[in-house]
Amino acid sequence: MKKIEAIVRPGKLNTILSALEELGYPGVTITEVEGHGRQKGITAQWRGRTYTMELVPKIKLEIVAGDDEVETIVETIVNAAKTGEIGDGKIFISPIDNVVRIRTGEKGELAI
Ligand SMILES: Nc1ncnc2c1ncn2[C@@H]1O[C@H](COP(=O)(O)OP(=O)(O)OP(=O)(O)O)[C@@H](O)[C@H]1O
Ligand SMILES: [Mg+2]
Repeated sequence: MKKIEAIVRPGKLNTILSALEELGYPGVTITEVEGHGRQKGITAQWRGRTYTMELVPKIKLEIVAGDDEVETIVETIVNAAKTGEIGDGKIFISPIDNVVRIRTGEKGELAI
């Protein structure tokens, strides 16, 4: 099992969720977050001055899935989230030791 953590543009959330819906996925957690990547926030020009916004609003999607589903889910998120401009976001994939479904007590892949 793996956790896919995708940090994406808020405006892309609906597109990503629709694409995932077509694919089928076990569940998702969505959080509003702030952060910056290697550009250290966007720089905007306004009335002749340069402004840097150090923390940019993003959406974090977290999906825990079986190993054999990960590649397709990641590919789907990339295709739906990409504009080609800086700040498109990033996806982190990490191992998950165990999952427990509270209602039934099921564990592991059965509980996803
Ligand atoms: N190394 C990182 N660790 C944790 N969070 C990160 C990291 N890199 C990016 N993020 C998160 O992802 C968001 C989007 O990052 P962003 O797409 O700007 O990455 P980037 O590496 O600067 O790529 P790009 O050059 O395409 O902008 C950031 O606002 C931040 O929340
Ligand atoms: Mg960036």
